Formats: sequence, structure tokens, C-alpha cells
Amino acid sequence: MNNLSKKIRSLCEQKHAVIMAHYYTLPEIQEVADFIGDSLALAQKAKTIEADIIVLCGVHFMGETAKIICPDKKVLVPDMNAGCSLADSCEAKALAQLKAQYPNAMVVSYVNTTAAVKALTDIVVTSSNAEKIINQLPQEQEIIFGPDRNLGAYINKVTDRKMILWDGCCQVHNSIEPEHIDALKQQYPHAIVLAHPECKGTVLEKADVIGSTAALLNFAKLHDYEQYIVVTESGIMHELQKHCPYKQFIPVGAICEDMQLSTLDKLYNCLLTEQPEIQVDTVIAKKAIVSIQRMLEMSEK
Ligand code: 13P
Ligand code: SF4
Repeated sequence: MNNLSKKIRSLCEQKHAVIMAHYYTLPEIQEVADFIGDSLALAQKAKTIEADIIVLCGVHFMGETAKIICPDKKVLVPDMNAGCSLADSCEAKALAQLKAQYPNAMVVSYVNTTAAVKALTDIVVTSSNAEKIINQLPQEQEIIFGPDRNLGAYINKVTDRKMILWDGCCQVHNSIEPEHIDALKQQYPHAIVLAHPECKGTVLEKADVIGSTAALLNFAKLHDYEQYIVVTESGIMHELQKHCPYKQFIPVGAICEDMQLSTLDKLYNCLLTEQPEIQVDTVIAKKAIVSIQRMLEMSEK
């Protein structure tokens, strides 16, 4: 651990703070964190964590989700500018208009959304539990699913539904083309293709395994295959390589620049100054917690 990381750890002790990080963050951030996980695990952990301060290293909606789950804790993020193209693709006002067109539809939203969108949502889902949660709803239930059209189309396929899909996407995953996978498959014909469901359907068709970051990691940890083509954001390579040092992981080369905004310097300053702090409007938070709570309950069933 370098000097800065040691100083970060000692500030955490002094201030009774915990660092939570997503698998896409920089390796040094994952190494200094108390807890790393996918979006679902981060939300579940926030619910039970004992701390006065949570520092969320990831993107803004993850900090907001933690704050909604833990309104009494101080939630900090190293860089307030760390946004998410997927969350940005769905504005609350526009979602409210779509809801008005389908008064009988339930709104199921991916966790990659703003607090205001979660407040208009009946159930939040992540890529870890979307299939499980949709399967718990009656087959005839009308559903608006947003904002990721790729995840939505994938869930429609595996649950045999016709959910109304919001036309949004993650610019990082959506920029991966099937030709990129073909080129890597030519070089590594025996490699297993691991893909995140935020990728286009034409990319997912080429995958051997489709799942959230945690699901992809678990697959690699639990199976004996030696080579994997990794079709998601490259930050996950750190955890893959750490747990499977003798396996070969070939990244498709997708980088989320927002995830890279959490650096050790900013993390240190954020713990020192206790800024920037996430604030969520209390009226919005009170509505949003209901849809998050439903997700946490339904993913236990
Ligand atoms: P998961 O870690 O839940 O798979 O989400 C991926 C992602 O894009 C987070 O922003
Ligand atoms: Fe958002 Fe995509 Fe970055 Fe995840 S990878 S934080 S979905 S922009």
C-alpha cells in the first residue's frame, strides 16, 4: 500500500468512515476500499454498514442510492462530476409523460437512474436481479422498463415479456460492436466470452455468459476455462486477474471515463474535507426509497 493509501486508511479510522467502490473503478481505489461490489451489492451493503461516513467511489447515482438508503449517514463522492450516460438518458419529466400514456403500467427502472427517476419508479432493479424480479410479476402485468433498452430487450427475451422499453443506453457498453468480438474470437478461438447485458443484442448473441459484473466474476472464479474475452468495462480486469492469476482475460477495451474520475488524490481530499457530499431532496428520497426497498426485498425471494 502506498503512502497516500495509508493516509486514506488512517482517515477512515479516525472518522469512522468506510470506502465502497464499484468494480469499474481504478485498481488503486479497489485496493484501498473496504468493500467492492456490483451495483446490487453496493446497495445491499449500504443498508447494513456501520459507519458515520460512506465514501462511494463509482458514479453519482451510486452515491445517491447510498444516501437514499442511509439518510442519516454522510455520503461523500471523490468527484461530483462522475456521471453516467445511461442515467442521463432518462429525465424524470419525460418518464412522467410516458407513465401518463400507460396508466396501468408498472415502472421498473434500472438502478442507473437519478433519484428523481427512482421516485417515479415502482421497483428498482440491477443487472444482477432484473430477471428474478420481473419473473415475480404477473405475466399479464404491463411494464415500462427503463432506461437501458439493451438490458430491457435482453430481459424481454429471457422472461418472454413485451415490456415497453425506454430508449436509453450506456454509451460505453453500447459502443461495443459484434465485429470487436469476432476479431478477438479469431485471435482466441477457445476463449469464453463474458458479456454485460448493457451491450447490444447483436453483441450478446456472441456471448457464452451474460451477467452483471459480479456474475461474470463469479463465473470466471468457479470455472476451469483458461481464457476469457471480457465484454464490459475494463476496470473489472483488476478483480478478475486478482482472483484468477493463472487465467488469461482479454478486455474488449471499453473504458468508462466517469468511473476513472475517482482517484486516490480526490479520495484523500474528500475524506479530509468531507466534501463533496451527496444531498437528495427529502421528498424525492422518501418516494425513491420505496422502489429501492422493494428491490432489496424481491431480490431475497
Ligand atoms: P453492475 O455492476 O451492477 O453489473 O453494473 C454495471 C454498471 O454499468 C454500473 O454502472
Ligand atoms: Fe454508466 Fe455505462 Fe459508466 Fe456504467 S459503464 S457508469 S452504465 S456510463
